[in-house]
Amino acid sequence: MSPQRLLFVCLGNICRSPAAEGVFLHLLAHEGLEDQFVVDSAGTGSWHVGKPADRRMLAAAERRGIALPSRARQIEAADLGRFDRILTMDNDNLAAVEALARRGAPGSPGQQALIEPITRHCRQFGLQEVPDPYYGGEDGFEQVLDLLEDACGGLLEHLRPH
Ligand code: 4NP
Repeated sequence: MSPQRLLFVCLGNICRSPAAEGVFLHLLAHEGLEDQFVVDSAGTGSWHVGKPADRRMLAAAERRGIALPSRARQIEAADLGRFDRILTMDNDNLAAVEALARRGAPGSPGQQALIEPITRHCRQFGLQEVPDPYYGGEDGFEQVLDLLEDACGGLLEHLRPH
């Protein structure tokens, strides 16, 4: 079976979506499912292109034994055809990716990724969005990781090959 292709998307691609990518990869490694998925992340903005994840997010993830291998890149219309599923962190990201999908459609017919908020897969938290931690304190990064561990666990349960 060909791998399922997932793209995690936030604004800057240095905090939330690299963390989602790292958390999901961590779960895959734990379960020996790496071959079943292709995982990437991207931002709707371009300010941080080429940069590793924010050092505060890297440190918070490292305390949980989670590596964040991402280098920031901006999402492009072709990603809608390259990925099966795009998981957005907040309502602005969702609107931006949906707008990109509408603009990209005429020139690139064919299969388009399913676009959905990652919080849809939470099993414990009731939040609709993953809050942007960039301008806040250390707590915000821990909260993002708590949420993403919950959401990525639910996502993997949903997508796990049976
Ligand atoms: P992210 O966080 O979208 O989770 O990567 C942000 C990173 C950078 C900025 C905003 C949010 N920024 O304004 O530069």
